[in-house]
Amino acid sequence: MRIAVTGGAGFIGSHLVDRLVSEGAGITVIDDLSCGKKENISPGAALVRKDIRQDLSAELRGADAVFHLAADPDVRSSAANPTKSFEQNVAGTFAVLESCRKADVKRVVFASTSTVYGEADVIPTPETYPCAPISNYGASKLACEAYLSAYSGSYGIKGTSLRFANIFGERSTHGVMLDFYRKLRANPKEMEILGDGRQDKSYLHVSDCVSATLTAWKKQKAAYDAFNVGSRGKARVDEIAGLMCRLMRVRPKFSYTGTPRGWAGDVRVMLLSTEKIGRLGWKEQVSFEEGVKKYLAWLEKNG
Ligand SMILES: NC(=O)c1ccc[n+]([C@@H]2O[C@H](COP(=O)([O-])OP(=O)(O)OC[C@H]3O[C@@H](n4cnc5c(N)ncnc54)[C@H](O)[C@@H]3O)[C@@H](O)[C@H]2O)c1
Repeated sequence: MRIAVTGGAGFIGSHLVDRLVSEGAGITVIDDLSCGKKENISPGAALVRKDIRQDLSAELRGADAVFHLAADPDVRSSAANPTKSFEQNVAGTFAVLESCRKADVKRVVFASTSTVYGEADVIPTPETYPCAPISNYGASKLACEAYLSAYSGSYGIKGTSLRFANIFGERSTHGVMLDFYRKLRANPKEMEILGDGRQDKSYLHVSDCVSATLTAWKKQKAAYDAFNVGSRGKARVDEIAGLMCRLMRVRPKFSYTGTPRGWAGDVRVMLLSTEKIGRLGWKEQVSFEEGVKKYLAWLEKNG
């Protein structure tokens, strides 16, 4: 089995590569190392250092599947810099699909996002809920899903869009937990929380995200489908702050920027229905607290 993973030097991609290597697949990582790190890549995988917007047909020829994770994953900066998420995500995904078409690759699994729904008023949100993103990042990923669906219909590529909730864990380089960890290490007496602390969302440990990705890849029946991937429960930002302080044994005074959203385009409440991927046999294994402990232990060594 030959598999290419775009973004395989990044956070989620490198964990996916580890798992695929352990299952005996031959892996090519395609990554320009703009955010990812060479050290993240399993020694059992080969690296092609290239921008996904270049022609990859030579690298992809003969691949049984492409897992496409390379992107600008930053929701927050997509408000200030809309062009970047368009270029990296929409143009990037289009280029990957074009390379797949030219190289006759027949299977693509794409890392999408819960932010495609925008501010849903059905919680937990099912895949059938209308998509109305409120961030440029969410809009860019929805456009990618549309292209994958079209390439599936037009060129017989079996496609999967995985709408990931917030994914956290070892090797993550962004997100609320890393923000809190850095702030608490710099000053354990006071900490500023973005927003009002009541943003309430789903957080899934990266090992569960990887097992969901592999489950959808192996078990999906339809030619094209989209699946939510998230945790059973939600966590409020101020609860995350409280848990991290308890685990790090610090008692800071909290202050809040006070706005209902942490930043422009921040969704306040997010929980995905995972019944659909559950029917393929996937289940969350790592509890929220267990996941945070693993991530903190890693940050203590590497952060
Ligand atoms: N982390 C999350 O909470 C989360 C949630 C929802 C969706 N996602 C999606 O999952 C995927 C992986 O996210 P992550 O958190 O691991 O991000 P990451 O930044 O750690 O990994 C992205 C990787 O893509 C590479 N890359 C970026 N642009 C590239 C380009 N033009 N050409 C080649 N390589 C390029 C980077 O070097 C990096 O290694 C992304 O598509 C992201 O949008 C992540």
